[in-house]
Amino acid sequence: MQQAMASSSSSPLLMLLLVPLLLAMARPCSGVDAISTYCAKNGTSAQTQASIDQVLTALVPRASAAYYATATAGRSSSAVWGLAQCRGDVPRQDCSLCLAAAAKEVASSCRGSSDGRVFYDYCLLRYSSSNFIGLADTGYTLILLNTQNATGVDLAAFDRAQGKLMSRVASEAGDTANKGLATDTTRLGGGGGGAKTTIYGLGWCTRDITAADCGLCVAQAVAELPNYCRYRRGCRVIYSSCMARYEVYPFFFPLGGARESADEVGQCDKIVLNA
Ligand SMILES: *[C@@H]1O[C@H](CO)[C@@H](O)[C@H](O)[C@H]1NC(C)=O
Ligand SMILES: *[C@@H]1O[C@H](CO)[C@@H](O)[C@H](O)[C@H]1NC(C)=O
Repeated sequence: MQQAMASSSSSPLLMLLLVPLLLAMARPCSGVDAISTYCAKNGTSAQTQASIDQVLTALVPRASAAYYATATAGRSSSAVWGLAQCRGDVPRQDCSLCLAAAAKEVASSCRGSSDGRVFYDYCLLRYSSSNFIGLADTGYTLILLNTQNATGVDLAAFDRAQGKLMSRVASEAGDTANKGLATDTTRLGGGGGGAKTTIYGLGWCTRDITAADCGLCVAQAVAELPNYCRYRRGCRVIYSSCMARYEVYPFFFPLGGARESADEVGQCDKIVLNA
């Protein structure tokens, strides 16, 4: 019994020992630059590359107008599918800017690759020579964790509150009425003269998957939080079809006037799995 407990509590530690290979250098936790770009190693023919260019050109204006678009181009072996989406709470202008940057980034970084994906805070864009539309994809995993622990709170209580909040976010993301975007907050502390801490949680999905798949996808992301983000003041788990994130400052709109301090944003470590 004792042994089972010991080994189960050491497994996240073991994982942390194994991941440093994939751990990039810490950098600011803000999402102005591309958070990550994934390009498959498969090459493309000139014809497929032409389809990719067509898809990217079609996606940007359509997704800027509607916050979400899919596009296809080419036939049989040169067919390409694409999807672009902005987070639903983001102002229109930020959405357009993000999509334009995403198309440019994926076109240059993934030139000649049959599968390209780029992830920003405000939007994502993806294309592939195989049809991924409608499939909940959790194969490629990106984790961004704040290098700092939460402060001014009991860390175990912080994680319990974060865990409860994020399970609520996952179930809200699975509700059809929320259209694949769930945001929620929780407050803790404040007793014994300590300041209250607010935790802000968000889950969102690409709109090609069903609400039920969205709920499952966000729940899977949330289930990774204890493995990688214990006590951390902020963390993101990003898949190709959904993501989950929490912070101790407001990061979704409306921001309500409150602005995060540079200290709260801090530095992030980045872990890429199954790349
Ligand atoms: C890339 O190559 C792998 C292995 O050959 C294959 O399974 C996969 O479907 C290819 N991906 C695309 C987008 O063509
Ligand atoms: C976070 O807190 C835990 C428990 O107190 C401690 O072991 C760990 O070193 C801290 N990590 C950071 C990055 O401060």
